[in-house]
Amino acid sequence: MSRVAKLAVTCEALDRGQVPIATAIYARAFDEPWPEAAIADLLKGAGCWGLIASVGGEPVGFTLCRSVLDEVEILTFAVDPERRRLGIGRTMLEEVIRISVKSADSLYLEVGTDNPAALGLYLAAGFKEIGRRKNYYRRADRSLVDALIMRRDLAIGGQQ
Ligand SMILES: CC(C)(COP(=O)(O)OP(=O)(O)OC[C@H]1O[C@@H](n2cnc3c(N)ncnc32)[C@H](O)[C@@H]1OP(=O)(O)O)[C@@H](O)C(=O)NCCC(=O)NCCS
Repeated sequence: MSRVAKLAVTCEALDRGQVPIATAIYARAFDEPWPEAAIADLLKGAGCWGLIASVGGEPVGFTLCRSVLDEVEILTFAVDPERRRLGIGRTMLEEVIRISVKSADSLYLEVGTDNPAALGLYLAAGFKEIGRRKNYYRRADRSLVDALIMRRDLAIGGQQ
Protein backbone atom coordinates (compact mmCIF):
# COMPACT_ATOMS: atom_id res chain seq x y z
CA MET A 1 0.00 0.00 0.00
CA SER A 2 1.34 3.47 -0.84
CA ARG A 3 1.71 6.15 1.83
CA VAL A 4 -0.92 8.18 -0.05
CA ALA A 5 -3.53 5.47 0.46
CA LYS A 6 -2.90 5.43 4.22
CA LEU A 7 -3.47 9.15 4.72
CA ALA A 8 -7.09 10.07 5.50
CA VAL A 9 -7.65 13.57 4.14
CA THR A 10 -10.95 15.31 4.82
CA CYS A 11 -12.12 18.35 2.87
CA GLU A 12 -14.75 20.73 4.20
CA ALA A 13 -16.13 24.09 3.16
CA LEU A 14 -13.85 26.91 4.30
CA ASP A 15 -15.88 29.15 6.57
CA ARG A 16 -15.05 32.70 7.59
CA GLY A 17 -13.85 31.62 11.03
CA GLN A 18 -11.11 29.54 9.39
CA VAL A 19 -9.63 32.44 7.41
CA PRO A 20 -6.77 32.92 9.94
CA ILE A 21 -5.83 29.24 9.45
CA ALA A 22 -5.93 29.63 5.66
CA THR A 23 -3.81 32.80 5.92
CA ALA A 24 -1.18 30.93 7.93
CA ILE A 25 -1.07 28.04 5.44
CA TYR A 26 -0.78 30.54 2.57
CA ALA A 27 2.12 32.34 4.28
CA ARG A 28 4.00 29.04 4.67
CA ALA A 29 3.21 27.91 1.13
CA PHE A 30 4.10 31.02 -0.90
CA ASP A 31 6.96 33.54 -0.99
CA GLU A 32 4.69 36.51 -0.33
CA PRO A 33 2.03 36.41 2.40
CA TRP A 34 -1.57 37.33 1.59
CA PRO A 35 -3.29 39.56 4.17
CA GLU A 36 -6.01 37.88 6.22
CA ALA A 37 -8.43 40.72 5.41
CA ALA A 38 -7.90 40.20 1.67
CA ILE A 39 -8.69 36.49 1.94
CA ALA A 40 -11.75 37.27 4.09
CA ASP A 41 -12.98 39.87 1.58
CA LEU A 42 -12.49 37.49 -1.32
CA LEU A 43 -14.41 34.72 0.46
CA LYS A 44 -17.33 37.15 0.96
CA GLY A 45 -17.39 37.99 -2.77
CA ALA A 46 -20.02 36.80 -5.21
CA GLY A 47 -19.55 33.18 -6.24
CA CYS A 48 -16.52 32.64 -4.01
CA TRP A 49 -16.10 29.50 -1.96
CA GLY A 50 -13.28 27.57 -0.44
CA LEU A 51 -12.22 24.24 0.99
CA ILE A 52 -9.97 23.39 3.87
CA ALA A 53 -8.20 20.03 3.93
CA SER A 54 -7.33 18.34 7.22
CA VAL A 55 -5.43 15.27 8.33
CA GLY A 56 -6.30 13.93 11.76
CA GLY A 57 -8.19 17.15 12.48
CA GLU A 58 -5.19 19.32 11.64
CA PRO A 59 -5.71 21.83 8.78
CA VAL A 60 -3.02 21.19 6.16
CA GLY A 61 -4.28 22.83 2.98
CA PHE A 62 -6.87 25.15 1.51
CA THR A 63 -8.18 26.45 -1.76
CA LEU A 64 -10.29 29.41 -2.83
CA CYS A 65 -12.46 29.22 -5.94
CA ARG A 66 -14.91 31.45 -7.76
CA SER A 67 -17.97 30.22 -9.63
CA VAL A 68 -19.22 32.43 -12.47
CA LEU A 69 -22.03 31.05 -14.64
CA ASP A 70 -20.78 27.74 -16.06
CA GLU A 71 -17.14 28.28 -15.09
CA VAL A 72 -15.15 27.82 -11.88
CA GLU A 73 -11.76 29.42 -11.37
CA ILE A 74 -9.28 28.18 -8.78
CA LEU A 75 -7.94 31.41 -7.29
CA THR A 76 -5.43 29.89 -4.93
CA PHE A 77 -4.43 26.39 -3.85
CA ALA A 78 -1.92 25.49 -1.17
CA VAL A 79 -0.69 22.62 0.98
CA ASP A 80 1.47 23.09 4.06
CA PRO A 81 5.13 22.56 3.05
CA GLU A 82 5.60 19.95 5.79
CA ARG A 83 2.72 17.83 4.48
CA ARG A 84 3.47 17.75 0.77
CA ARG A 85 3.58 14.77 -1.58
CA LEU A 86 1.14 12.84 0.59
CA GLY A 87 -1.86 13.16 -1.70
CA ILE A 88 -3.44 16.12 0.10
CA GLY A 89 -3.37 18.40 -2.97
CA ARG A 90 -4.78 15.63 -5.16
CA THR A 91 -7.62 14.95 -2.69
CA MET A 92 -8.46 18.65 -2.43
CA LEU A 93 -8.42 19.03 -6.21
CA GLU A 94 -10.69 15.99 -6.63
CA GLU A 95 -13.12 17.63 -4.21
CA VAL A 96 -12.99 20.92 -6.15
CA ILE A 97 -13.82 18.96 -9.31
CA ARG A 98 -16.62 17.03 -7.58
CA ILE A 99 -18.23 20.27 -6.41
CA SER A 100 -17.60 22.22 -9.63
CA VAL A 101 -19.09 19.60 -11.93
CA LYS A 102 -22.51 20.23 -10.37
CA SER A 103 -22.69 23.76 -11.78
CA ALA A 104 -19.89 24.25 -14.30
CA ASP A 105 -18.57 22.98 -17.61
CA SER A 106 -15.01 24.23 -17.15
CA LEU A 107 -12.48 24.66 -14.38
CA TYR A 108 -9.71 27.24 -14.91
CA LEU A 109 -6.52 28.25 -13.15
CA GLU A 110 -3.23 30.03 -13.70
CA VAL A 111 0.10 28.51 -12.72
CA GLY A 112 3.72 29.62 -13.02
CA THR A 113 5.92 27.78 -15.50
CA ASP A 114 8.49 27.47 -12.69
CA ASN A 115 6.15 25.40 -10.49
CA PRO A 116 6.69 21.72 -11.33
CA ALA A 117 4.71 20.50 -8.31
CA ALA A 118 1.55 22.38 -9.25
CA LEU A 119 2.00 21.60 -12.96
CA GLY A 120 2.39 17.91 -12.13
CA LEU A 121 -0.72 17.97 -9.96
CA TYR A 122 -2.87 19.78 -12.52
CA LEU A 123 -1.70 17.78 -15.54
CA ALA A 124 -2.35 14.53 -13.68
CA ALA A 125 -5.89 15.79 -12.93
CA GLY A 126 -6.63 16.41 -16.61
CA PHE A 127 -5.93 20.13 -16.96
CA LYS A 128 -4.67 21.26 -20.35
CA GLU A 129 -2.74 24.40 -21.25
CA ILE A 130 -4.94 26.84 -23.20
CA GLY A 131 -2.89 30.03 -23.03
CA ARG A 132 0.11 31.82 -21.58
CA ARG A 133 0.62 35.21 -19.92
CA LYS A 134 4.18 36.37 -20.53
CA ASN A 135 6.15 37.61 -17.51
CA TYR A 136 3.03 37.42 -15.36
CA TYR A 137 4.56 36.66 -11.94
CA ARG A 138 7.42 38.53 -10.26
CA ARG A 139 9.25 36.18 -7.89
CA ALA A 140 11.00 37.08 -4.65
CA ASP A 141 14.33 37.34 -6.53
CA ARG A 142 12.62 39.86 -8.91
CA SER A 143 12.71 37.45 -11.85
CA LEU A 144 9.66 37.35 -14.12
CA VAL A 145 7.89 34.08 -14.88
CA ASP A 146 5.19 33.21 -17.41
CA ALA A 147 1.79 31.98 -16.24
CA LEU A 148 0.07 29.13 -18.02
CA ILE A 149 -3.71 29.33 -18.24
CA MET A 150 -5.08 25.83 -17.77
CA ARG A 151 -8.54 24.39 -18.26
CA ARG A 152 -10.12 21.16 -17.07
CA ASP A 153 -13.20 20.03 -18.98
CA LEU A 154 -16.06 19.11 -16.65
CA ALA A 155 -18.69 18.58 -19.31
CA ILE A 156 -18.66 14.80 -19.26
CA GLY A 157 -19.55 14.28 -15.64
CA GLY A 158 -16.17 15.36 -14.37
CA GLN A 159 -14.38 12.41 -15.94
CA GLN A 160 -11.16 13.06 -17.83
C1 LIG B 1 1.23 22.17 -5.67
C2 LIG B 1 0.87 21.61 -4.29
C3 LIG B 1 -0.51 22.14 -3.89
C4 LIG B 1 0.83 20.06 -4.38
O1 LIG B 1 0.29 19.58 -3.16
P1 LIG B 1 0.67 18.12 -2.61
O2 LIG B 1 -0.26 17.78 -1.52
O3 LIG B 1 2.12 18.05 -2.30
O4 LIG B 1 0.38 17.21 -3.90
P2 LIG B 1 0.05 15.64 -3.89
O5 LIG B 1 0.86 14.94 -2.88
O6 LIG B 1 -1.42 15.45 -3.82
O7 LIG B 1 0.58 15.22 -5.34
C5 LIG B 1 -0.31 14.81 -6.37
C6 LIG B 1 0.47 14.72 -7.66
O8 LIG B 1 0.94 16.02 -8.06
C7 LIG B 1 2.25 15.88 -8.65
N1 LIG B 1 3.27 16.50 -7.79
C8 LIG B 1 3.14 16.93 -6.53
N2 LIG B 1 4.28 17.46 -6.08
C9 LIG B 1 5.18 17.35 -7.09
C10 LIG B 1 6.52 17.73 -7.24
N3 LIG B 1 7.21 18.32 -6.25
N4 LIG B 1 7.12 17.51 -8.44
C11 LIG B 1 6.45 16.92 -9.44
N5 LIG B 1 5.15 16.52 -9.35
C12 LIG B 1 4.53 16.75 -8.20
C13 LIG B 1 2.50 14.39 -8.77
O9 LIG B 1 1.90 13.96 -9.97
C14 LIG B 1 1.72 13.88 -7.57
O10 LIG B 1 1.40 12.52 -7.67
P3 LIG B 1 2.44 11.41 -7.08
O11 LIG B 1 2.86 11.85 -5.71
O12 LIG B 1 1.62 10.15 -7.07
O13 LIG B 1 3.59 11.39 -8.05
C15 LIG B 1 1.93 21.99 -3.22
O14 LIG B 1 3.21 21.65 -3.71
C16 LIG B 1 1.92 23.46 -2.85
O15 LIG B 1 1.14 23.89 -1.98
N6 LIG B 1 2.81 24.26 -3.49
C17 LIG B 1 2.95 25.70 -3.12
C18 LIG B 1 1.75 26.49 -3.50
C19 LIG B 1 1.44 26.40 -4.97
O16 LIG B 1 2.34 26.44 -5.80
N7 LIG B 1 0.13 26.31 -5.27
C20 LIG B 1 -0.33 26.21 -6.64
C21 LIG B 1 -0.43 27.57 -7.22
S1 LIG B 1 -1.07 27.52 -8.88
